[in-house]
Amino acid sequence: MFPHLWLFALLACIFLSEAKPVAPKIVLINHYGDEGSIWYGIPEFDLLAQNVSVPGLSIRYPDVHCTASGVVCQVITDEGEINAASTITALVLSSLFDLRKSYFLLGGVAGISPKAGTLGSVTFARFSVQVALQYEIDARERPENFSTGYIPQGTTGAGQYPTHIYGTEVYELNDALRQRAIAFAQKARLNDTADAQAYRALYANAPDFAAATAAPSITGCDTATSDVWWSGNLLAEAFEDTTKLFTNGSAAYCTTQQEANAVLAALVRGAVAGRVDFKRAINMRTASDFDRPAPGQTVAENLFNGQSAGYSASIANIYLAGVQVVQGILDGWDETFAAGVQPQNYVGDIVGSLGSTPPFGPGS
Ligand SMILES: *[C@@H]1O[C@H](CO)[C@@H](O)[C@H](O)[C@H]1NC(C)=O
Ligand SMILES: *[C@@H]1O[C@H](CO)[C@@H](O)[C@H](O)[C@H]1NC(C)=O
Ligand SMILES: *[C@@H]1O[C@H](CO)[C@@H](O)[C@H](O)[C@H]1NC(C)=O
Ligand SMILES: *[C@@H]1O[C@H](CO)[C@@H](O)[C@H](O)[C@H]1NC(C)=O
Repeated sequence: MFPHLWLFALLACIFLSEAKPVAPKIVLINHYGDEGSIWYGIPEFDLLAQNVSVPGLSIRYPDVHCTASGVVCQVITDEGEINAASTITALVLSSLFDLRKSYFLLGGVAGISPKAGTLGSVTFARFSVQVALQYEIDARERPENFSTGYIPQGTTGAGQYPTHIYGTEVYELNDALRQRAIAFAQKARLNDTADAQAYRALYANAPDFAAATAAPSITGCDTATSDVWWSGNLLAEAFEDTTKLFTNGSAAYCTTQQEANAVLAALVRGAVAGRVDFKRAINMRTASDFDRPAPGQTVAENLFNGQSAGYSASIANIYLAGVQVVQGILDGWDETFAAGVQPQNYVGDIVGSLGSTPPFGPGS
C-alpha cells in the first residue's frame, strides 16, 4: 500500500473513533419488516438517509435507520420477547448513540379485545403486563374448581397475587406524555378498509362487543405481552383477570402483543445505567386482529382466518398516527420536550428499579 493510503486509513480510524454519537430526538421501535417499511418513502422525513450498524442487533435488521441529521431514528427488534429485549439492550448500550434525551415511540400491530376497540384502532398504553409469566396446567387437567389453567407463580390458584416476582411483570409509563401523544395522534386521518369493515360487522349484535363495530379511533388502553399468541374467550378472559391482578386493579386489558414488556425491560435497565430516560417512552399499538371470535364463529376460524382483514389498516395507522406524534414532539421540542414532560403518576417497573415505590406489585 502507498504511504498516503496508510495515512488516510489512520486518519479515518481517528475520525471514526471520535465520531460524535447520534443523538436522536425520537427513536421509533418497530418489530419486523412491515411495521418498519411503512415509515419509508414518506414526505415527512427520510429514515434511509443514514444507516448505523449496531453490534448485537438482529441479523435480519442489523442497522438503525436515521434521517441525515440523526434527529429521527428507527430500530427494528425482530419479533417476540427475546429478540425485542436483546435488540434494545444492544442499542441502549451502544456508544454509537446518545439516547439520554431521546423519546421512544414503540409502534407495532396487536390483537385487540372486541370489548375495547376494533381493527385499525390505535391504542396508547399506560400499563404493559407480562400476562403469561405464570404456571400453566393444561386446561384439560386442571383442578375442577379452577377457572383457567394459568396460575400466578408461587401461588396455588388463579386470583392470588404472585409471590415469585421476576421484575418484568408490569411497566407503567408517563401518563402526561401519553396524553400528549394521544392528542397528537388524534390529528391523524386513520386508514380503514372494506375488508376490515366487513370483519367488524361479524361482531354486531353482541352488547359486550359494541366497541368492535365502531370505526377505528385513537384510544388510551393497556396492553398484554406474551410470546404465546393466544386466541379465544377463555384465555382472553383469564388474561383480563391477570392484567387486573398484577396491577392491583389499575390496568384494563385491551391489546395483545409479543414485545412490549421486553422493550420496556431493556429501557428500564438503560435508565438505571443512565443511558436513557424512561419517562420518555410511548407505547403505541394498532389493532390488526381480534383476540376472540365473533358470536357464532369458532376460535380457530377467528385465529386462522381473521388475521388479514385488519392487517393493512393496522400497518398504515402505525405511520398515520405515529407521524403525528413525531411531528408534535419535534414541533414542541424547544418549548416542552427537550426538558421533558413531568409525570404525575408512578413511572417504572413492578419492583421500583427507578427509585420510587409502585402503587401495584407485591409491596415491600
Ligand atoms: C440504508 O439501508 C437501506 C436498506 O435497509 C437502503 O435501501 C438505503 O439505501 C441505505 N441508505 C444508505 C444511505 O446507504
Ligand atoms: C379448589 O379446591 C381446593 C380443595 O377444596 C381448595 O383448596 C382451593 O382453594 C380451591 N381453589 C379455587 C381456585 O377455588
Ligand atoms: C388505506 O390504505 C390502503 C393501502 O394500504 C389504500 O389503498 C387505501 O386507499 C387507504 N384508505 C384510506 C381511507 O386511507
Ligand atoms: C397488590 O395486591 C396484593 C394482593 O392483594 C397485595 O398483597 C399488595 O400489597 C398490593 N400492592 C400494593 C402496592 O398495594
